[in-house]
Amino acid sequence: MNKKTPKTTIELSNSEEETYSLGFELGKSLKGGEVIALEGRLGAGKTVFTKGLAAALGVKVPVTSPTFTILNVYEGESLKVYHIDAYRLHGGEEAYNAGLTEFFEAKNGVCVIEWASNIESALPIEYKKISFSYFGENVREIKYEFYE
Ligand SMILES: Nc1ncnc2c1ncn2[C@@H]1O[C@H](COP(=O)(O)OP(=O)(O)O)[C@@H](O)[C@H]1O
Ligand SMILES: [Mg+2]
Repeated sequence: MNKKTPKTTIELSNSEEETYSLGFELGKSLKGGEVIALEGRLGAGKTVFTKGLAAALGVKVPVTSPTFTILNVYEGESLKVYHIDAYRLHGGEEAYNAGLTEFFEAKNGVCVIEWASNIESALPIEYKKISFSYFGENVREIKYEFYE
């Protein structure tokens, strides 16, 4: 078997609201058990996207950047959102030791990981990667690399 290559799709967002909507669209399609890795510099839109995703899953409380905790858990209607910030982690082993890898297997929710490349070796093989690039004050390129 050849190693599968992910399908790449690129979106351009011209506002915070558009990025939120893209997150919402993805959120609607989730079934549970997905691991979503968000890449991009500070202010790129990772948390805005997560807010939209969480709203689509029925999360009613405000989603905030988990920067000062590693993990925030939100209750959606039928799925939880495990919102992880790997900014302060260095390597997959730290993710494992912090107990995060258990959530990657959870079918009762989805994992959304900011700064996921910091813990890449701990991620499951077929995670969904989304890379945010800063194109201008209000413009972001959002690249999806998804396995089908
Ligand atoms: N097109 C856009 N998409 C997302 N955020 C945008 C966009 N244009 C401007 N912004 C602003 O950029 C910031 C993104 O912040 P945030 O989502 O917290 O970034 P990150 O989590 O990647 O550090 C917000 O202040 C938001 O208002
Ligand atoms: Mg953030």
